[in-house]
Amino acid sequence: MYSIVERRMIVPNMHEFIVRAPVVAESVKPGNFIMLRPDPTGERIPLSVADWDREAGTVTSIFMQVGGTTAKLARLKPGDTIPTYVGPLGKETVIDKFGTVLCVGGCYGIGSIYPIARALKEAGNRVVVLLEARSSFLLYWEDKLARVANDLFVITRDGTKGRKGHIDKIPELMGAAGIVPDRVIVNGCTFQMMRVSEVTKPLGWKTIVNMNPIMIDGTGMCGVCRLSVGGKTKFACVDGPDFDGHEIDWAEFLARRKGYSPEEVDPLRHSSCRSRF
Ligand code: FES
Repeated sequence: MYSIVERRMIVPNMHEFIVRAPVVAESVKPGNFIMLRPDPTGERIPLSVADWDREAGTVTSIFMQVGGTTAKLARLKPGDTIPTYVGPLGKETVIDKFGTVLCVGGCYGIGSIYPIARALKEAGNRVVVLLEARSSFLLYWEDKLARVANDLFVITRDGTKGRKGHIDKIPELMGAAGIVPDRVIVNGCTFQMMRVSEVTKPLGWKTIVNMNPIMIDGTGMCGVCRLSVGGKTKFACVDGPDFDGHEIDWAEFLARRKGYSPEEVDPLRHSSCRSRF
């Protein structure tokens, strides 16, 4: 069993989740993910890794409460245990001295872009961090990211912080700052990763996205996480989760991602959460 060190809501609907898992903490790298089950009969879900402490043997993830399983996770308290916590899984994000790297984070991806930005900085890159949220109250970890970034930008859709607008403002924002990235890395919701890929493609900015499909085993056996990249079938759990955003068949991916949306929400109607609806 794996004990919960911390589980707290850091902004509405978004939780910081720290688990004691020494074997995972020992070898985890930026871009990896873990698979967990909240209880012995629960489904397995993947969570991106957002930080770790090798000495303490702990691993941190940020998750958004969206369905039955994440609702169970959101009720866990420090000291509680979960039966399954497997990792590190997936290929790590490629870290090299690229020059200037734009790291874009939104939603849970603000957390998982953090170790990537940190590693890129350690590798000698100029790290430009851009955080995107609907409103300023949904931003978190700005202080942590500011410590590893050479430049930090914020876009909020309602204009309560940084530049007002959507992620499409990236070229305008970078142009005004005189920044031409040698590489763009995006962690966040599917729509955000797709839009960033669409706006960077005509500019020729290589763009790496950290894909988040539905997964079952996380080890390349079930095929559920498949996606088309450059016309070829890939499995996100073993071939990724990082892929070139300009080569992904986004329409197919979005359709597959939504496949179980009703089933994800339905358990909430029959659980102890139902009073919230
Ligand atoms: Fe089963 Fe990737 S989750 S093959």
